Amino acid sequence: MRLLAPLTLLVLLARACVPNTTDLQAQLTAGGTGYVLSLCADQVYPLTSSLNFTAPKQEISTEGYPTDGRRATLRVDGGTCAVRADKDGLDGVHLRNVQVDGNRQGNEGAPAGNEGNIVVGGSNRGQLVEWVRSFNPRGWTCLHITEGDLNCTETTVQHNDIGPCGYDTWMDVRPRMASLTQWADGISLSCTNSTVYNNTVVDATDGGIVIFGAPLSTVKGNRVRAATRVMLGGINLVDVTPWKPGNYSGTRVASNRIEGGYATAMGNATRGPHAQRALIKIGIGVGPRVWWDKTDQSTSAGGVVTDNVFSGAFSFGMAVGAVQNFQITNNTFVGNSTFIGEYGANCTQWDQTPNPPVPLLREPDTLTSVNIAKRETYGWVDGRVQGLTCFVAPPADDWAWPYGGGGVNAEPTVEKGAAVRSRPAAWLLAASALVILVV
Ligand SMILES: *[C@@H]1O[C@H](CO)[C@@H](O)[C@H](O)[C@H]1NC(C)=O
Ligand SMILES: *[C@@H]1O[C@H](CO)[C@@H](O)[C@H](O)[C@H]1NC(C)=O
Ligand SMILES: *[C@@H]1O[C@H](CO)[C@@H](O)[C@H](O)[C@H]1NC(C)=O
Ligand SMILES: *[C@@H]1O[C@H](CO)[C@@H](O)[C@H](O)[C@H]1NC(C)=O
Ligand SMILES: *[C@@H]1O[C@H](CO)[C@@H](O)[C@H](O)[C@H]1NC(C)=O
Ligand SMILES: *[C@@H]1O[C@H](CO)[C@@H](O)[C@H](O)[C@H]1NC(C)=O
Ligand SMILES: *[C@@H]1O[C@H](CO)[C@@H](O)[C@H](O)[C@H]1NC(C)=O
Ligand SMILES: *[C@@H]1O[C@H](CO)[C@@H](O)[C@H](O)[C@H]1NC(C)=O
Ligand SMILES: *[C@@H]1O[C@H](CO)[C@@H](O)[C@H](O)[C@H]1NC(C)=O
Ligand SMILES: *[C@@H]1O[C@H](CO)[C@@H](O)[C@H](O)[C@H]1NC(C)=O
Repeated sequence: MRLLAPLTLLVLLARACVPNTTDLQAQLTAGGTGYVLSLCADQVYPLTSSLNFTAPKQEISTEGYPTDGRRATLRVDGGTCAVRADKDGLDGVHLRNVQVDGNRQGNEGAPAGNEGNIVVGGSNRGQLVEWVRSFNPRGWTCLHITEGDLNCTETTVQHNDIGPCGYDTWMDVRPRMASLTQWADGISLSCTNSTVYNNTVVDATDGGIVIFGAPLSTVKGNRVRAATRVMLGGINLVDVTPWKPGNYSGTRVASNRIEGGYATAMGNATRGPHAQRALIKIGIGVGPRVWWDKTDQSTSAGGVVTDNVFSGAFSFGMAVGAVQNFQITNNTFVGNSTFIGEYGANCTQWDQTPNPPVPLLREPDTLTSVNIAKRETYGWVDGRVQGLTCFVAPPADDWAWPYGGGGVNAEPTVEKGAAVRSRPAAWLLAASALVILVV
C-alpha cells in the first residue's frame, strides 16, 4: 500500500499536461521511447524552433483528446516548421489532436528554410497524424510526409482539418521554381504504402492533396474544397520526383469529393458571382504534362484514380497528360459545375497554347495504350494539357459560378447517403458518369 501512493503520483505526474513551451522539448527528449507529451487544452504554445520527436512511439497530443477548438495550439514564432518527425529512429510516432498555426502574417513570404508547418515521415515506418488542424503555414505546405531515403513507409494521415494554406496571387506556370513562398499545399504525400483518409482540406492554394508518387499509397474519402481562395489543383498526381520516374505504382486515389467554388450571391437563374473568385483550376491532375512545361519530358506510371466526385467551379475537372498504365474510372460530377477561366498572360509563353476549360481533358499522344469508354454528359476532350495552371479565374462579378454547397440558391445540404435514398432520380441525372481506362 505504501508503495502504491508514490507510484500513483508518478503516473499522475507523467500524464499531467505540460503548461509552458520552455519544457516541451526537454520533456520529450527526457521521456524517450513511447513517451506521451500531453499538451494542455485551450493553450497556445509559441515555438521559436520546431518541436522535435526524439524516439520511437512518442506521442504529442492534447490532454483529453478534444477534436475542436480546445485542442492545444502549437504556433510558429520562428522558422517555418512547428513539429518535426522526419529524423531517423522515429518509427510509430503519433501527432494527435493538436492545432498547428503557421502564424503567417498576411501575404508575407516564408523566411529561409521554407518547410512545412508539420514535417513527418523520413526513413520511418508507421507514423500517425490524426485529428490535427494545420493552417496558415509560412512555408510551402500545411503537412509534409517526406520520403526519407526513399524508405518511408506506412504513415496514416486521417481526420485532419487542413487550411487555409498559402495565398493565391498570380503564379508562374512553374510555381515552385518561380515563387517558393506564395502558394502552399494542404497535404504533401511522399511516403510509400501510406493512407490519407477522411481529411478535409479547404483553401490550399497550390494542391489540396499532392501525391509525389508515393507508391502503394491510398488517398481515399477526403474532401477538398475551394471556399475563398483559388486552388491550382484539388488532388495532384503531377510530380515525377522523388519516386522517379513518376512511380505511382499501386497508388490509389478513390472516393474523394472535390468541390470548386460556388456562387456567393445571386446572379441569374443558373449562375452567380463569387466575391473571392474561388475555384479549383484542375480538380484532379494526372501526369507531369498537366502541370509543368514542355521541358519536362517525363511520363508517370501505375496509378488508379477512381470513384471521385466533383462539384462546383473548375477550369478543368480532370486533366491527363504524359502517363502510362493508369486506370481512370468512374469519376463523376454531381450537383452543379462550371468550367471557367481565361487565358492568363503566360498561357502563350510556350510553343503550344493549352486547350480552354472543359470538364475532362486529355492529351492522347502523351498517353500510352488508352481505352476510352465515354458515357453520359461529359466526354473527354482531346487537346493540349501543357501548363494548365496558367488559366486565371474570371472577374468576381462575372456570373460564372454555379449554385451549390448549401450556399446561395443551393439545395440544402443533406447527409451523405440520405440524398441517394430520398432522390434517386436526381442522383442518377446529376451523376454523369465518365470512364476512361488507360491500361
Ligand atoms: C513551466 O511550468 C513548470 C510547471 O510544470 C514550472 O515549474 C516552470 O517554472 C515553468 N517555466 C516557465 C519558464 O514558466
Ligand atoms: C529541432 O531540430 C532542428 C533541426 O533539425 C533544430 O534546428 C531545432 O533547434 C530543434 N528544436 C529544438 C527545440 O531543439
Ligand atoms: C533508409 O535508407 C538508407 C539509405 O539506403 C539507409 O541508410 C537507412 O538505414 C534506411 N533506414 C531505414 C529505417 O530503413
Ligand atoms: C471524418 O473526420 C471528421 C472530422 O473532420 C469526423 O467528424 C468524422 O467522424 C470522421 N469520419 C469517419 C468515418 O471516420
Ligand atoms: C503495406 O502496409 C501494410 C500495412 O498497412 C502491410 O500489411 C503491407 O505488408 C505493406 N506492404 C508492403 C509492400 O510493404
Ligand atoms: C515503383 O515502386 C514499386 C513499389 O515500391 C516498385 O516495386 C517498383 O520497382 C518501382 N518501379 C520503378 C520503375 O522504380
Ligand atoms: C462510382 O462512384 C460513385 C461515387 O463514389 C459510387 O457511389 C459508385 O458506387 C461508383 N460506381 C461503381 C460502378 O463503382
Ligand atoms: C509570366 O511568367 C514570368 C516568368 O516566367 C513572370 O515573371 C511573369 O510575372 C508572369 N506573367 C505575369 C502576368 O505575371
Ligand atoms: C446566366 O449567366 C451566364 C453568364 O452570363 C450565362 O452563361 C448563362 O447562360 C445565364 N443563364 C441563364 C439561365 O440566363
Ligand atoms: C443547382 O442550380 C440550380 C439553379 O440552376 C439550383 O436551383 C439548385 O439548388 C442547384 N443544386 C444544388 C445541389 O445546390
